[in-house]
Amino acid sequence: MVTTPIGGSGGSVDIEGRVRLVMESALTARDRVGVQDFVLLENYNSEAAFIENLRRRFKENLIYTYIGSVLVSVNPYKELEIYSKQQMERYRGVSFYEISPHIYAVSDNTYRAMRTERKDQCILISGESGAGKTEASKKILLYYAVTCPMNDHMAALGDRLLQSNPVLEAFGNAKTLRNDNSSRFGKYMDVQFDFRGAPVGGHILNYLLEKSRVVHQNHGERNFHIFYQLLEGGDEDLLNTLDLERNPQNYQYLVKGNCPRVSSISDKNNWKVVMKALPVIGFTEEEKLLNIIAGVLHLGNTQFGEGEEGETYITTETQITKLVKLLGVYCDAFLKFGVVRVFVSLQMISPLNFEQAISARDALAKAVYGRTFTWLVEKINQSLALKGSSVIGLLDIYGFEVLQHNSFEQFCINYCNEKLQQLFIELTLRSEQEEYETEGIAWETVQYFDNKIICDLIEEKHKGIISILDEECLRPGETCDVSFLEKLEDTLGGHPHFVTHKLANGKTRRVMSREEFRLLHYAGEVNYNVNGFLDKNNDLLNRNLKEVSIMKIDKVQAATQFKNSLMKLMEILMSKEPSYVRCIKPNDAKQPGRFDEVLVRHQVKYLGLMENLRVRRAGFAYRRRFEAFLQRYKPLCPETWPNWHGRLVDGVSTLVNHLGYKPEEYKLGRSKIFIRFPKTLFTTEDALEAKKPEIVIVIQSGWRGMKARRRAKRRRQAAELIRRCLTDTLLLFVSACILETAFCMYTIPLVVYGSVFIRFIKGFIYRHEEYCPENEYFLDHVRYSFLKNLRKNLPKSVLDKSWPTPPPLASEHLRTLHMRNMVVKYCRRVQPEWKKQMVQKVVASEIFKDQKDNYPQSVGRLFLDSRLEREQINLKVVQTLGNDKVQYGASVTKYDRRGFKPRPRQLLLTNTFAVLVDRTKIKQRIDYTALRGISVSSLSDGMFVLHMPSEDSKQKADAVLQCDHVIELVTKLAMMAGKIDYVNISPGSIRFTVARGKEGIIDFVRGSEMKVTKGKRGHLLVVSQWLY
Ligand SMILES: Nc1ncnc2c1ncn2[C@@H]1O[C@H](COP(=O)(O)OP(=O)(O)OP(=O)(O)O)[C@@H](O)[C@H]1O
Ligand SMILES: [Mg+2]
Repeated sequence: MVTTPIGGSGGSVDIEGRVRLVMESALTARDRVGVQDFVLLENYNSEAAFIENLRRRFKENLIYTYIGSVLVSVNPYKELEIYSKQQMERYRGVSFYEISPHIYAVSDNTYRAMRTERKDQCILISGESGAGKTEASKKILLYYAVTCPMNDHMAALGDRLLQSNPVLEAFGNAKTLRNDNSSRFGKYMDVQFDFRGAPVGGHILNYLLEKSRVVHQNHGERNFHIFYQLLEGGDEDLLNTLDLERNPQNYQYLVKGNCPRVSSISDKNNWKVVMKALPVIGFTEEEKLLNIIAGVLHLGNTQFGEGEEGETYITTETQITKLVKLLGVYCDAFLKFGVVRVFVSLQMISPLNFEQAISARDALAKAVYGRTFTWLVEKINQSLALKGSSVIGLLDIYGFEVLQHNSFEQFCINYCNEKLQQLFIELTLRSEQEEYETEGIAWETVQYFDNKIICDLIEEKHKGIISILDEECLRPGETCDVSFLEKLEDTLGGHPHFVTHKLANGKTRRVMSREEFRLLHYAGEVNYNVNGFLDKNNDLLNRNLKEVSIMKIDKVQAATQFKNSLMKLMEILMSKEPSYVRCIKPNDAKQPGRFDEVLVRHQVKYLGLMENLRVRRAGFAYRRRFEAFLQRYKPLCPETWPNWHGRLVDGVSTLVNHLGYKPEEYKLGRSKIFIRFPKTLFTTEDALEAKKPEIVIVIQSGWRGMKARRRAKRRRQAAELIRRCLTDTLLLFVSACILETAFCMYTIPLVVYGSVFIRFIKGFIYRHEEYCPENEYFLDHVRYSFLKNLRKNLPKSVLDKSWPTPPPLASEHLRTLHMRNMVVKYCRRVQPEWKKQMVQKVVASEIFKDQKDNYPQSVGRLFLDSRLEREQINLKVVQTLGNDKVQYGASVTKYDRRGFKPRPRQLLLTNTFAVLVDRTKIKQRIDYTALRGISVSSLSDGMFVLHMPSEDSKQKADAVLQCDHVIELVTKLAMMAGKIDYVNISPGSIRFTVARGKEGIIDFVRGSEMKVTKGKRGHLLVVSQWLY
């Protein structure tokens, strides 16, 4: 079980809330939607229960279900709205089991495991043709392309990774009866990630391309897509150049399946997509590629005639000319070494009859196409080649195949699945055992079928089926498929997993033909017909083209080649932490909503899912971290509700004792509880469900009480605030109000006695005197009016310097007070980033304002954190700097002190020193403590000089530099070095030290354009542009 804790960016409150909701609804709605993890199936040994669970979920469009960490996916054959960007966000950083099963959960979990555990990962996708393997792998890739951190460079790479798909599909996929876009090759793709988790590269390995499709297709099937795309989408000019006609029916290699067009496929659009993708993946040789594709079509149209004496000759000479032109080989050489010898079968070399000439032609076509495909994969790999520090591998490979007639191809495919099953069992058991060990729980032996015996039967040296096949192919003398079968019987007769018609008992004999052998695979029995085994293993081309020097012939037989590549694949997979996606096809008609139980049962069997489940359920059905378990079920026990304050393990123990768990039902590990039976979990879940109304009431009353208390507290705080304000800043305003009230109260009696008017006049006369009884009434009135007016016209921002003229004695204090109040409010609102910007701008203003011509232009432009992207700084430099992190970096031009040769450099600032970097090398280190000064000119140029002590031999002499962001750079440097006062702005020239006792001079003048040249007397002359 995957136990990654909730974390990362996605673990926000919102997402966690939704996560719990989804998990709850899935558990409680299990009657309708089944269980989302098969390990929770009560009757886990029952295939019928397994299929019923799949069916229920499929009907509800829940196409994903887990078996522990294995994801089972049923092809919906319709677009579901579960692959949007929002859905991706839902799964980001969220724990595997806390949210409904999804291919994104597997993608995300794998990605996080790679990052946190620093271990390479792989995702193994298997299933029969049309089950959705390729779609699943594309969804995983897209998930990484969207959710991983990326800059522009990486986005381009992500694009290449994604764009490699349509190209590979065009050349390696075809319409079959089972799938309109069937991959006719196995694919393993490594996605490389750098230390920050960004995808930086990729690599593809391809397995066993079905080359026979190039020359033959079953009824209702097609050749590889690219042939039809070229004929349908290529423009007239292109077709003319390739000597092609638009109608696919004119080509022998395209007519066998009698199905040139398919309604679900748009060859024209796909052609456009491929043509667009080729340059993205760095392809500049489309013509070569298309020549070969056209060449294969012409090869197919090459016909033979049979002479009177049985000799074979070519009847379509013009085809050969076209072929020679397209494949770019010399006609003579081709005819001599290639075509003639093979097709026409010159007596002296290799007499071929009519049929042999045809099969030699086809063998050549298959070989040419096969090698082109390998070349294409290599080209894609070149465009993706960048090594990262960790890897996620994606394996999209054919699942177990049992057809009515099984041949060499099925033998290879099923052998591959045996190997993958072996790996699966080994790794699943290993991870189970590791978890038990970490948790301190005794390991209970799991009984499972070890399929090593079948793998050995196939691959063992000298005795295995592949060795016998090779031997038969290479043995001199008459060999044929039947002699191979006899040899198998001689060597393997009596093996418990091998039967032939001759060796079988009466019952089995009845269902087997004489040319068949049967293997008892881990997933079931398969009969293989030996017809064609030898030819296919020999790849025919070998025998007939032995002397043809235009192609390098592989010496190794096909099955052995495949075995070797599988061994390599196993090694790759073994070194990684695996995740599994098992794809199932719900019906053969490619229809949405149809669930064919017989077909699904067949796949459940051949994918070995019941065995997967048995291994996974051998120990415990369910495991959960203590904190998560306690958090969910604590309301069920008065001692743990509402909060448990002791150790987590004690809390869980108290809880399960209260719930009456029996000792055999559970075990407590170091950090997790392990529950053996799903029933125990479901009873607990039901108890929680029943308890909910009670909890809701408790929570509601608690919530209401808390809200009321909060409201009361807020009121108290507000009252206190008003009281404080009244005694401080607002005191004056209140005085004004009192005055106003007083005035209203007393005016009427005063008017009555006529003294108000007299006091007012008197006050006016004495208004310039000290405050005295005579003017007191008048001055109070004036101040009152001022305050009243001020209240309405207070400045609204710190930049507003207006203020009504105060009357005598109305203190300026009020103005200062208001301004401070506004400043405090403004400062509280300022974000840290903006504050940093402002501090830097203030320093820049202190240094440069009215001193340097280009300062005013810099004011409106934000200072950036750095002018260099992280990846622009060489990794070696970063490593050399160690703990001294780069705080700021910019590209600069350094002028040699002697000769003033300009050289591009990077200037990197750390907290204690600056360095000048030339690509991977640190050329000069400038300790801030040693920095004597920084000089710039007063004009608009970007020159600056860093003055170093000439007597210090460790420090090189002064550095003469130029930068496009001189104001920003010098401000940051001066601040970091604590040397704001050391910046010197020179109007005419700057002197600097070249070496001890030797000086250089830079002269600055204004001119029409910026120029740095060598001036008179060996000075450096800098012409700065006039700024108007
Ligand atoms: N998750 C999905 N959502 C919608 N449609 C899907 C999904 N998965 C598969 N399909 C449909 O099923 C078709 C077959 O899927 P896919 O090509 O991935 O099968 P496959 O397992 O790779 O088969 P093969 O072994 O033949 O290559 C797709 O073209 C698509 O129409
Ligand atoms: Mg596929």
